[in-house]
Amino acid sequence: MPAPAQPLRVGVVGLGFAGTTALDAFSSLPGVEVVALAGQEQPRLDELADSRGVPNRYHDWEDLVARDDLDIVSIGVPNHLHAPIGIAALESGKHVFCEKPLAPTGDLAQAMVDTAVAADRVLEVAFNHRRRADVQYLHRFLDERGIGRVYHARTSWRRRQGIPGLGSWFTNRDMAGGGPMIDLGPHMLDIALHLMDEPRVTSVSAVTYGELGRTGRGGRQGAPSTGGTRTFEVEDFGSALLRLDTGGSIHLEASWASYSADEEDIAVELLGSTGGVRLFVRDYATDDTLRIYTDLDGVPVVVTPTVHVPAGHHLSVITEFVATVRSGEWANAHGEYALHRSRVLDAVYRSAEEHREVEVEAA
Ligand SMILES: NC(=O)c1ccc[n+]([C@@H]2O[C@H](COP(=O)([O-])OP(=O)(O)OC[C@H]3O[C@@H](n4cnc5c(N)ncnc54)[C@H](O)[C@@H]3O)[C@@H](O)[C@H]2O)c1
Repeated sequence: MPAPAQPLRVGVVGLGFAGTTALDAFSSLPGVEVVALAGQEQPRLDELADSRGVPNRYHDWEDLVARDDLDIVSIGVPNHLHAPIGIAALESGKHVFCEKPLAPTGDLAQAMVDTAVAADRVLEVAFNHRRRADVQYLHRFLDERGIGRVYHARTSWRRRQGIPGLGSWFTNRDMAGGGPMIDLGPHMLDIALHLMDEPRVTSVSAVTYGELGRTGRGGRQGAPSTGGTRTFEVEDFGSALLRLDTGGSIHLEASWASYSADEEDIAVELLGSTGGVRLFVRDYATDDTLRIYTDLDGVPVVVTPTVHVPAGHHLSVITEFVATVRSGEWANAHGEYALHRSRVLDAVYRSAEEHREVEVEAA
């Protein structure tokens, strides 16, 4: 992409995985300058800003958003801060790139989308896994060849022992909004809906459990995440049946910790009337992740597409976001599709709590 005369000026909030990944992705694009960085771990703030040449540093997001020379604010902080930061940034005329989930609840996500529409700014969400090369291949395959009527999808992200930061903000209900269903679930729901051509989810029947996390088990090894109350208030496993307005359905499962075979895997399987497709990624594999199932002369065949998955999915979604901002055409880029995903997750938690099938609120 050639650099335009006027660079886009970006402020990044957050110094963890999300903030650092966004910082590096924005910084790598021609004609984009990260001019401000905010986060609460002072040594990390200095180290990141020094190494990436970011001139302005802030402890609190409010001071970064208050700058009047930013075109874009990038949000990589605990979920409960997405809406306050996003709304303040949009209201002050910035475009917003926000980490998933858009917000911990559908109502907060709705408020963000309403603000983006009123301010006429872009609101995009980091659904980076949809940009995997194997997912894109499947999308093209389904578009161009198809598998007949797609009536059901199975999709899951499962970990053997991967609660992120036991006792950090991730496991605090008010800060996170939930456990793996709202942390990993959005990616898998996003991929399934994307591959199925964006049907609307109409109702949900779900269950959630916290068997391991509640007793201090299932934590991911390594550096803890920030904040939190040292308690475990969310689920570590969830499973849901989603009904679609097409008459089809999706089974969505997300687990941070469970006694299961693999350390970590993600899977999406679509069942169609004339074929099936499967994406299965064990322990972040980058090859041999796809299968296509069909019949040849009445005999079942399995096709193995050879698609390598390079790293850099965040860079892809940020590149698209920057292109939208530059295009000046963003009538449908106010986060509406992410809002539907938040409404579905609301219904997942409500259904699990009320032990019944519940309707998804219209976005
Ligand atoms: N798309 C993905 O693949 C992906 C991967 C990981 C995390 N995420 C999302 O990114 C977000 C952050 O996750 P993380 O793992 O980077 O978290 P983290 O805990 O590692 O980092 C959070 C950062 O937010 C900063 N912060 C907190 N309060 C602040 C305030 N008031 N002002 C300024 N900064 C503040 C902290 O200082 C910290 O640097 C979450 O919403 C998470 O769901 C997305």
